[in-house]
Amino acid sequence: MAGRIRTAVLPVAGLGTRFLPATKAIPKEMLPVVDRPLIQYAVDEALAAGIENIVLVTGRNKAAIEDHFDRSPELDRVLESRGKERELEAVSRIVPEAGRISYTRQPDALGLGHAVWCARELVGNEPFAVLLADDLVLADVPCLKQMIEAAADTGGSIVAVEDVPREHTSRYGILDVGADDGRLVEVRGLVEKPDPADAPSTLSVIGRYVLMPEIFGHLGAMDRGAGGEIQLTDSMAKMIGHSPFHGLRFSGRRFDCGSKAGFLEANIAFALARDDMRDAATKLVRTYAAGAPPAAGSA
Ligand code: G1P
Repeated sequence: MAGRIRTAVLPVAGLGTRFLPATKAIPKEMLPVVDRPLIQYAVDEALAAGIENIVLVTGRNKAAIEDHFDRSPELDRVLESRGKERELEAVSRIVPEAGRISYTRQPDALGLGHAVWCARELVGNEPFAVLLADDLVLADVPCLKQMIEAAADTGGSIVAVEDVPREHTSRYGILDVGADDGRLVEVRGLVEKPDPADAPSTLSVIGRYVLMPEIFGHLGAMDRGAGGEIQLTDSMAKMIGHSPFHGLRFSGRRFDCGSKAGFLEANIAFALARDDMRDAATKLVRTYAAGAPPAAGSA
């Protein structure tokens, strides 16, 4: 039985070069899917999974993220005076209880493993979660909640996994798979971004992790891996065999919002999943799929 998982680390220090020029002056984590920034989905998912402490690992030019999770008295006053209760509620509910969100900086872009290591003092010596806001998951039960529930049975570390086409293995951390009951798989090894020919399987890690604190010791060695970066995957691999390590085929659909096509798809899927957007989104998708743009102003 794993200890209670109280803290989630969200690395948000990346430059977002794939979305330039949109990300020239705003962090990529602030790009909206429908009407919420990516980072808010990740924080909401963590809170819905029972997480109490959110740690954001930021970098330069990420102030908009801190402002997003803070009160905005001027905005509150304007919304109040205009009787915009719904909007006021929407902006107020974003702000976590004081002291439940912390920020630390990753001073140099040395890789995902290094970003997680930067949070070590804020996590302490207990199991914790990591969420990558680029990976957006649409699910009835939040993906991290599924993982924390699974970890209560398995103990140890858990990564969320999904099958990818073999030609895509070089984009992900890939599992070497042991026992597999169709939902939970025993992780025998992990490789970061292997060539399709060398990949031990096609089961890829998505940006959701439940990790034992021993990972910080491995990360602290600062070994460089794929792309010359300090990789989270390499330190996870060192924990295999010392404590239980599983992959969870989560239920839900994952969107790679680090790519333009994935980001567009997430916008369509999330709009279709929302009661207030479904009709408009369905109409638009149908009309464009039929090859005809809708009449002006019809949305
Ligand atoms: C990171 C991890 C990789 C994982 C992926 C999930 O890669 O290093 O193991 O599969 O996230 O999105 P990145 O997308 O930062 O290149």
